[in-house]
Amino acid sequence: MSKMIAILPGDGIGPEIVAEAVKVLNALQQHFGLDLELQEALVGGAAIDATGQPLPKETLDLAKRADAVLLGAVGGPKWESLDISMRPEKGLLGLRSELGLFANLRPALLFPELVDASTLKPEVVAGLDILIVRELTGGIYFGKPRGIRTLENGEKEGFNTLVYRESEIVRIARVAFEAARQRQKRVCSVDKANVLEATEFWRQVVIKVGQEYPDVELSHLYVDNAAMQLVRYPKQFDVMVTTNMFGDILSDLASMLTGSIGMLPSASLDANQKGMYEPIHGSAPDIAGQNVANPLATILSVAMMLRYSLREAALADAVERAVQQVLREGLRTRDILGSGNYTLVSTSEMGEAVLKSLKQLA
Ligand code: IPM
Ligand code: MG
Repeated sequence: MSKMIAILPGDGIGPEIVAEAVKVLNALQQHFGLDLELQEALVGGAAIDATGQPLPKETLDLAKRADAVLLGAVGGPKWESLDISMRPEKGLLGLRSELGLFANLRPALLFPELVDASTLKPEVVAGLDILIVRELTGGIYFGKPRGIRTLENGEKEGFNTLVYRESEIVRIARVAFEAARQRQKRVCSVDKANVLEATEFWRQVVIKVGQEYPDVELSHLYVDNAAMQLVRYPKQFDVMVTTNMFGDILSDLASMLTGSIGMLPSASLDANQKGMYEPIHGSAPDIAGQNVANPLATILSVAMMLRYSLREAALADAVERAVQQVLREGLRTRDILGSGNYTLVSTSEMGEAVLKSLKQLA
């Protein structure tokens, strides 16, 4: 039966990188017998320009109907002066919360071919394979009350609320422990339990859930220490589980261990493995439209889509192998150029190269 995929390119480099990922999806249909129906819709700034809304109803309805969603990136300077409730980012946050995509998986995996693209020493990053499990529909991103208000003395203040319900912590902790069971069986929970009650509670709940997983080793770090440890000795980590905001920050940090933020895919899953797939990088307005962005994070997000939502593990492997093959051939977009003897390629050339090696695997 045909699966429907919602394609949401968004803003900045979003359309360029998504175009390359769509080529991969098309090749999977032509050469690997995958039966898909792709439907494109507007989100973020592109949607604001066309409809006045960052998440138009048609887009949300399409995403709800879809078997999986592929998203590029949202945001840019053009929309930064809008009220925060109307910015492009609200389109993305709205999709996450409306679709109940509470579990965000961000694998920081270093391809051996990119060991010299990282700013860290090869011996620190070689063999790196971390899975960051970020809570995605709660915490300070969504907590209420929030806003900017004027006090009695006339001074203004901005405020947000960090709040986690027990059920929200339990379900994300389970995702982390289950993932660890498929890996090295270690979970590090990251919090700020020495200062913030909401994350002191987070730690208590994670410990309780951990008792159901005696085969998985559980450790805890404060977020400041976790950031330091990620740079000092990243290979100590297997699965890291953390709150929405800490996960946002630590996953950008971890991405640089792998050579470039342009390499990190992500999956955002609901309780039934329905998912939205997106690169973790943003819309990079400074390089938009120049055909220089790295499409590999988006293409690797397609691999995650195949694995988690479409249950096509063999095809997911094929896409990942095709990516590895082009890296082995020495092709590099400029963000991963490093210092070796490599061939600098554009966004579309990188996409074409992945297609070519993918077809060879058919
Ligand atoms: C990410 C991004 C988003 C986030 C922005 C664009 C809203 O940084 O997916 O990491 O903060 O979650
Ligand atoms: Mg981020």
